[in-house]
Amino acid sequence: EQQNIPKEETLDHSAALLREGYLFISNRMKKFQSDLFETRVMGKKVVCITGEEAARVFYNTEFFKRKGAAPYRVQQSLFGVNAIQTKDDAEHLNRKQMFMSVMTSSHEKELADMTKNQWDSVSRRWEQSDEVVLFDEAKEVLCRVACRWAGVLLHNTEVKKRAEDFYAMVDAFGAIGPRHWEGRMARNRTEAWIKDMIKKVRRGTLKVDSHSVIHQMAFYKDAEGNQLDPRMAAIELINVLRPIVAIANYITFSALALHEHPEYTHILHSRNKQYLEYFVHEVRRYYPFGPFLGAIVRKDFVWANYPFKKGQLVFLDIYGTNHDPRIWEEPDRFKPERFRGWDGNLYNFIPQGGGDPASGHRCPGEGITIEVMKATLDFLVNKIEYDVPDQDLSYSLVRMPSMVRSGFVMNHIRRL
Ligand code: HEM
Repeated sequence: EQQNIPKEETLDHSAALLREGYLFISNRMKKFQSDLFETRVMGKKVVCITGEEAARVFYNTEFFKRKGAAPYRVQQSLFGVNAIQTKDDAEHLNRKQMFMSVMTSSHEKELADMTKNQWDSVSRRWEQSDEVVLFDEAKEVLCRVACRWAGVLLHNTEVKKRAEDFYAMVDAFGAIGPRHWEGRMARNRTEAWIKDMIKKVRRGTLKVDSHSVIHQMAFYKDAEGNQLDPRMAAIELINVLRPIVAIANYITFSALALHEHPEYTHILHSRNKQYLEYFVHEVRRYYPFGPFLGAIVRKDFVWANYPFKKGQLVFLDIYGTNHDPRIWEEPDRFKPERFRGWDGNLYNFIPQGGGDPASGHRCPGEGITIEVMKATLDFLVNKIEYDVPDQDLSYSLVRMPSMVRSGFVMNHIRRL
């Protein structure tokens, strides 16, 4: 059987990965007419897998673990070193429980309301401005919302700088060179800031609500009853704040989608709650953000006739699964109504990972992401009118993470 496994011939495909970005895996799946192929990236053999069945296997913790999967450079920029993303088994479940406990539906609603209020307040200023860049505005709005919600002190004068630092960590994930270093410096600054605040909360010199996320992180105890060291607590709190700011990217893609498909503005005027959700889902399916995820084979097993070997690195294709024609009819068309018939399956729509978030690594912030996006979409459609001047609205499928190049410039903004 083994000789039938598609393998890339030349030595190392790191350059192709950087050149092809989001399409690196799906280009090869098409070429090999397969759900699986072997390649070499960064000097390591990697098995790439795609599709719903692949996601089911990838999220089976009997077969896969995360320790050793995330490159150190990604931990130093995006995740934080030794954070939840790299944990397995009891240690992971225990810590995940704490994340899940601060992301209840009432918390989601609270965040959505705070987001609405922030948009309402900044849009007063927009009416007096020649033009605004939505992506930049969204980062600041979300930085205020995230910090206020989590109980993190944020002075007006530092909002812009902190917001940029949060996004710089995200922006570093697919980068080598200066963009990677920007992300690392942003992480160092942010960890120092939050670590200091965690210490003050523990000492009682900074009083915070006992239900706040910062309080939860500061006093969380692991399965052995130990508190996290202050840096680890900071890293995990940043694992909540940073991705909230990252929703700015999806917000900008939402505005692009509205601009390119104006017919939906009319539908969304009706404030059909269900339709807001279809639209938000389709933005997360259609536009590129997370490209793929890595995990390590825990024990030998066979899937799709391929003998997976303990210790092997495996990539699950997120972008490709969200564009898989076996799952999605006309995957390269933006069609929110496709979600009308969607079965809520945990493995076929995986912009924020697959499986059950409580028992695996799937993003615990999906509900927050959806509610914040819905609140913002409602604002863009029902609370303001604006024009979209000439600008570069393209986005790259090579640069990771992708984003609307112009950041989405709006002018002649009127509040309704
Ligand atoms: C994990 C995407 C927003 C917190 C993940 C994963 C992805 C993802 C792909 C990895 C899943 C895996 O390893 O299997 C996104 C995207 C977001 C977003 C595209 C939109 C901007 C959020 C928000 C929060 C959050 C708003 C928190 C408020 C986390 C945490 C993890 C995670 C803590 C690690 C979970 C674990 O390892 O168990 N996210 N996420 N994310 N996300 Fe998100």
